[in-house]
Amino acid sequence: MMSPDEHNPGESLETLDWGPAVESAEEARSWIEQSGTQPAHFIGGEWSAPAASKRFSSRCPATGEALRDVLQGSSEDVDRAVQAARTALPTWQAMGPDGRARCLYAIARNIQKESRLFAVVESLDNGKPIRETRDLDIPLVVRHFYHHAGAAQLLDETDPGAEPWGVCGQIIPWNFPLLMLAWKIAPALACGNTVVLKPAEWTSLSALLFAETCQKAGLPDGVINIVTGDGETGAAIVAHPDIDKVAFTGSTEVGRIIREATAGSGKGLTLELGGKSPYIIFEDSDIDSAVEGLVDAIWFNQGQVCCAGSRMLVQESISDEVHRKVEERMSRLRVGNPLDKAIDIGAMVEEKHRDQVAAMCERAKDEGITCIQPPIDLPEQGYWYPPTLFREAPLSSEIASQEVFGPVLVSTTFRTPQEAVKIANHSRYGLAASIWSQDIDTALDVARKVEAGTVWVNGTNMFDASSGFGGMKESGFGREGGREGLRAYLRDVKPMTPTDGNTSATGGVVNSTSTDPALDRTAKLYIGGKQVRPDGGYCFEVQSPSGELLGLAARSNRKDVRNAVEASHRSKWGSMTGHARAQVLWFIAENLEPRSDDLAQLIDQMTGCGAAKAREEVQQAVAGWTWWASWADKHDGAVHDTPWRGLVLAVHEPFGTAGVICPQQNPLLGLVALCAPLLATGNSVIAIPSTAALAAVEMCRIIEHSDLPAGALNLLTGDAAEIGPVLAGHDDVDLLWHVSDEPLARKLEEVSAGNMKVCWRPGELSDRSRRMLDRGTQVKNIWLPHGI
Ligand code: NAI
Repeated sequence: MMSPDEHNPGESLETLDWGPAVESAEEARSWIEQSGTQPAHFIGGEWSAPAASKRFSSRCPATGEALRDVLQGSSEDVDRAVQAARTALPTWQAMGPDGRARCLYAIARNIQKESRLFAVVESLDNGKPIRETRDLDIPLVVRHFYHHAGAAQLLDETDPGAEPWGVCGQIIPWNFPLLMLAWKIAPALACGNTVVLKPAEWTSLSALLFAETCQKAGLPDGVINIVTGDGETGAAIVAHPDIDKVAFTGSTEVGRIIREATAGSGKGLTLELGGKSPYIIFEDSDIDSAVEGLVDAIWFNQGQVCCAGSRMLVQESISDEVHRKVEERMSRLRVGNPLDKAIDIGAMVEEKHRDQVAAMCERAKDEGITCIQPPIDLPEQGYWYPPTLFREAPLSSEIASQEVFGPVLVSTTFRTPQEAVKIANHSRYGLAASIWSQDIDTALDVARKVEAGTVWVNGTNMFDASSGFGGMKESGFGREGGREGLRAYLRDVKPMTPTDGNTSATGGVVNSTSTDPALDRTAKLYIGGKQVRPDGGYCFEVQSPSGELLGLAARSNRKDVRNAVEASHRSKWGSMTGHARAQVLWFIAENLEPRSDDLAQLIDQMTGCGAAKAREEVQQAVAGWTWWASWADKHDGAVHDTPWRGLVLAVHEPFGTAGVICPQQNPLLGLVALCAPLLATGNSVIAIPSTAALAAVEMCRIIEHSDLPAGALNLLTGDAAEIGPVLAGHDDVDLLWHVSDEPLARKLEEVSAGNMKVCWRPGELSDRSRRMLDRGTQVKNIWLPHGI
């Protein structure tokens, strides 16, 4: 220690040099050593280590040393864990909301009691600075368990009658090992599910320490099961037939594999994937704050953050000043020992990952993009990468468009807010965005227009258990945190099959009193607000159940699908107010009702359901339009109560273009019951109706005269098995609701993985619950810090 004589405060103030302030690793190392003597999985409340298990080392990225061994979980281990989770379900559910709340509360308390041990273990195993694990990761973990203890307690009040999925398979990445575990486990348990969780192979230790905490907290055996291992173990969890829901956070590539592997299985699925989030600085921003925020946005956790603000968009007029300040700030960042409390940037998680980041940067340099890396001395041992800026990287370059997942920022300039939005949205990802402007109009206008699940105004990287987090586009679907995150752990409706309907057809007999010959109908498609002939020039016959020809309907092909998608994108529907949308939907009902008799007759002719049922179907269709019209201006969002000073606005936004595959039965109601809620929430719709298509075509003729803007609803008659997959595979379709049998469901969900569109199988045509509106919207959380 320096004697008072040696201490020169004047010099310290001039250099602002910090001495090392290293956190002791003694307790963490002793836990690692003791727990590593016999590596095991945590299954059914016991530590389980089959004799034949393979092992691998978990390393300390700051030194490269092996910390301890971890088991490679086999499919048998996964099977045992799933069985244990299944066995534990009745006990866990019988404990009820109160009992589950107490367990979650006990977990929160036990983590809090050992928070420093968790923080140090996490820093040792992952390489992230202790300042971050101590001040962010672990407090947020604790907050998640507290918040969800409350959510468990109130479940009967907030979601009466809702059922948990059952056994949830959860696969998490290495960048926030314990935090991702908490984001997944806390809501799952709150809803009454049991869990099989696999931590990432590079960072398993905090999950194993968490298992010990669950034992101390008195969690019943089998409620939580931790199986360690790599992607193969993860794949075994995804494929296990007794897993009811899969929740994954990680790369978009693996997310796509999981989407394909679960297609048609009926398993619940939420995917939190990669990002390339814009960090937009306007000329009227507080520039110094924006630059300081940027340090958090891109150099926090070595940039290994899915929502890292890795694309800096600076207004041209302040570009030089911002770049100068950023470069100056970069040169003062401290890289080194993660256990040193004065460190800004720790070690990269693994050598292989560091090398991938370095290789990507070398390719960008080879492309001639200006690279700025301050001359910072990096430690000799361990895996490090310096803070890096690629200045004015072309938007199409690899470094500007692909996720780097390292401390690497790219910058570009813009002139107007419109251009900023265009550049921000020029990405396959849509996870998060930061907007810096002192002008509230600019900030909120851009916040609404940026395609991202979370938007921070004059801030960055703020998270809380009460506010959902998750992406749009290829950043995945589903939210973690908030009410929507909780509901992702409640069982979905039982999907309808194509022949289900709440008005069952009697079939076979034509109940027609008319002796006239059947009407010759050559129905057209309805695209962009017009009746159009099908591109292929083919029709199909619509017959009565006894084979009588009732009319011809147009057979769409892939070109018609493309035309419909283009028309839906040109539609102004999504930008209209809820009030304006409501007026149009009411008007549709008003115009439908006078046509009730002839539509009922047509339905009866096509399905043979009988006059009474047909009339009931039309009445229900009219009621459907008025019901969803009533909701159009009422599906409000929320203002969340987070521990941060400010407002967090949870805004419901339409997905954009929704594809709908209607059921076979109830040819009119099947169309209205699925399309009207999507229209009410501001989506444009492309619907494939029942092959008894004449009622849907008539409905569109009515819509044509009801002020619905062109392209808001498009009708493609034809074979759903043929054109459904084209719709599902189209990159500009954002959402798909489909009523399909298992083989078609599998096909649709497989091809939807291309752009990670959300697929949903509705439950019943009579469902007029708020769930339908929730399924037609995604939540954008806009964080508005205020005050000082
Ligand atoms: P990854 O997506 O391969 O791994 C994430 C988790 O998925 C790990 O637990 C892994 O064992 C598991 N996994 C791997 N293959 C699987 C499969 N076929 N089925 C089921 N589970 C599987 O991520 P990785 O390789 O660690 O990192 C690669 C890139 O992914 C990073 O460079 C980064 O760009 C991105 N990434 C994004 C994350 C995010 O939070 N969005 C987190 C981690 C990585």
